[in-house]
Amino acid sequence: MQNFVFCSPTTFVFGKDTENETGDFVRKFGGTKVMIHYGGGSVVRSGLLDRVKASLDEAGIACCELGGAQPNPRSGLVYEGIEMARRENVDFIIGLGGGSAIDSAKAIAVGVPYDGDFWDFYDDKAEPENTLPIATVVTIPAAGSEGSNSSVITHEEGMLKRGLGHESIRPVFSIMNPELTFTLPPYQTACGCADIMAHILERYLTNTRDVEMTDRLCESVLKTLIEDVPVVLQEPEHYGARANIFWAGMIAHNNSCGVGREQDWSSHQIEHELSALYDVAHGAGLAVIFPAFMKYTLKHDVQRYAQLAVRVWNCEMDFQNPEKTAREGIARFEAFLKSIGMPVTLEELGAREEDIPAMAAKTKMGPNDILGSFMPLSRKDVEAIYRLSMQSNASSR
Ligand code: NZQ
Ligand code: ZN
Repeated sequence: MQNFVFCSPTTFVFGKDTENETGDFVRKFGGTKVMIHYGGGSVVRSGLLDRVKASLDEAGIACCELGGAQPNPRSGLVYEGIEMARRENVDFIIGLGGGSAIDSAKAIAVGVPYDGDFWDFYDDKAEPENTLPIATVVTIPAAGSEGSNSSVITHEEGMLKRGLGHESIRPVFSIMNPELTFTLPPYQTACGCADIMAHILERYLTNTRDVEMTDRLCESVLKTLIEDVPVVLQEPEHYGARANIFWAGMIAHNNSCGVGREQDWSSHQIEHELSALYDVAHGAGLAVIFPAFMKYTLKHDVQRYAQLAVRVWNCEMDFQNPEKTAREGIARFEAFLKSIGMPVTLEELGAREEDIPAMAAKTKMGPNDILGSFMPLSRKDVEAIYRLSMQSNASSR
């Protein structure tokens, strides 16, 4: 295990009716004028926005609001939010809704006190210094932004989707009422599941040895999803299953499961080009890319893939042929994604083979034009993974 510093200072307020405590928590964390930032309207329709406003009002805290953050949130609304927050003397931002609203709220929070363009932070040109405090009332288990130190925004100029990772954008508190997730359509529930699984696998596929403790945490998150997601697809108001999935989404991405190990993250970078070009849901893009990435990198560490297959997908270990076991695990993963309604090929996403070279050329690579660390990828490898994801597992086995 590697050395690490882990600080996850977010206060999580979990359970029924907890959104009514928003005002008290804002006061506790020193906010006096709040901007509530939300998405396309689900929080209006569910009455959540009104409940949060009532709670702020009861605590004597003034607020203004800005809706309209769209899935794969855009820079235009961030600029608008920054101006509004300055005009209204906002000192506290609440992201209300899904990862998109929360990420957009985080971008506003870093942008308000900064003289330059907030995009500098996403383009690795500057580091945030005086970020406004952010809190969330989250309505979908997926991105894990309620506990994470990251935010992902798409710049309309060039449709570049880029992430910022910085400790100052971890929420000071996050309110998580599983009942708020009852209204999620099945497709969004499944997209969220695919994203959570990907957050685990980006960490699980590592070259670091002696990380048994976090391996087991990762495996338990995956097993929880395999068990509970089919339950809520049948019974959307199953509180227990929704609650477990909600916490799984948080724990998968606040880095509890990833400390002390090298992490990969190439599938996320590869997926970002899909959501930037075709505006597909992030989780659906990952459902297509991740199995292809796994097939492509399988030979790099057959034992690790076989371990995953046995412990998570209940495959029988074939000691004579561990590669067979490893492949079976990936096939079961792909079959699970299919069974919950996810696409598993680029074609199903509406992507075109002729766009692959451009997507590979645009993918944000690491130092020396290399991506990831599990099996470091060149641009040629990235292109090959896009091509592999044109096919379903059935045709590649
Ligand atoms: O916009 P509204 O009307 O609220 O509707 C949303 C949206 O259409 C809807 N929804 C959310 N909660 C609902 C609901 N509908 C009914 N009932 C509810 N309770 O679901 C749709 C998707 O929402 P969105 O916020 O886009 O989903 P998600 O949480 O998956 O966020 C996706 C974004 O997060 C980024 C992704 O790249 C993508 O842009 N990510 C952020 C990360 C982070 N900050 O740490 C890490 C992730 O890897 C990810 O990259
Ligand atoms: Zn993700």
